[in-house]
Amino acid sequence: MITSLENLDVKGKKVLVRVDFNVPLDDSLKITDDTRIVESLPTIKKIMESGGIPILMSHLGRPKGKRNEKYSLKPVAEHLGKLLKTDVHFATDCVGEVAEEVIGAAKAGDVVLLENLRFYAEEEGNDADFSKKLAALGDVYVNDAFGTAHRAHASTEGITKFVKETAAGNLLKKELDYLGGALENPKRPFMAILGGSNLIGGGMMFTFYKAQGLEIGKSILEEDKVELAGELLKEAESKGVRLLLPVDVIAASEFKNEAQTKTVDIENIPTDMMGMDIGPKTVELFKTEILKSKTVIWNGPMGVFEMENFARGTKAVAEALVDATKEGAITIVGGGDSAAAIAQFGFKNDVTHVSTGGGASLEFLEGKELPGVKALEK
Ligand code: 3PG
Repeated sequence: MITSLENLDVKGKKVLVRVDFNVPLDDSLKITDDTRIVESLPTIKKIMESGGIPILMSHLGRPKGKRNEKYSLKPVAEHLGKLLKTDVHFATDCVGEVAEEVIGAAKAGDVVLLENLRFYAEEEGNDADFSKKLAALGDVYVNDAFGTAHRAHASTEGITKFVKETAAGNLLKKELDYLGGALENPKRPFMAILGGSNLIGGGMMFTFYKAQGLEIGKSILEEDKVELAGELLKEAESKGVRLLLPVDVIAASEFKNEAQTKTVDIENIPTDMMGMDIGPKTVELFKTEILKSKTVIWNGPMGVFEMENFARGTKAVAEALVDATKEGAITIVGGGDSAAAIAQFGFKNDVTHVSTGGGASLEFLEGKELPGVKALEK
């Protein structure tokens, strides 16, 4: 049983909240996509409205256990302050005197954000002493970091051993409800696009073609997965699962937007070219299949959508998801690159749910147990 924030008494308490503020920043340290911050607002506001003081903890990037200003959460504190319309008290360290002082001075109505947890190697090492130090900074613990729930780190797993009361925040709960609901009891026909059971596009399709003995030219290939792809093809066949692969691709002479291109059927990829997007016949095929479905989970773009000339396939799939949603289908975008793609095309609010988890949503959809969620079970 996992307690939800609704059922946790936070009044007058310092509430340690693990959030996932691992957001993309540009070279001038400007946040380029604040979805994860925005999605954590309901939990932060709920704690404040209930008379608790949120003490927010997060990582940002992979600073490898060392302080590095490039990965400071300071810009996030400023951005969060704007969203909440209040000053966020930023502690330049996540443990020790500095953190204790800022937290000690916090009053009802204040919000505290601690500096990047990964400035300490102990965070990723799930070190018990470090977990204890974090736990000592608050009275109760809430995990709202769905994006980091697949990591057994000090702030997601270890800490739960040293606090009496733990709960799942609103975002974590929402993610588990949507993703879990789609898996446990999907309205059928149920379709998974890439990483799932029956519709494969994007870079991984070439590994499947290789397994079928096709020429893939210079296309991206995961050599060590060719055997697995072959087994999956056989398994799908024996279980009667339809596994659709693209029938044509846009091939390019090199990996750049302005490269020379050629639309070819999958049997005819030239040896000196690489597949960069699904082709027009595939787009039509995939659209038709998506529109027949009542539940669609999408994880992974169809091509190199960051380059305008190779974004068409991914955009068409996104559009098909939007149309399917209008027809009453449950459509779930599994975070990471596909979430970035749907945001880029402006359809973020036109599908049922866009996950804030990249790796976490993939692992969850694969059926793996997420340590950050497991640790909340009492
Ligand atoms: C993510 O962006 O997937 C999470 O924040 C986890 O980050 P990590 O892959 O660096 O652990």
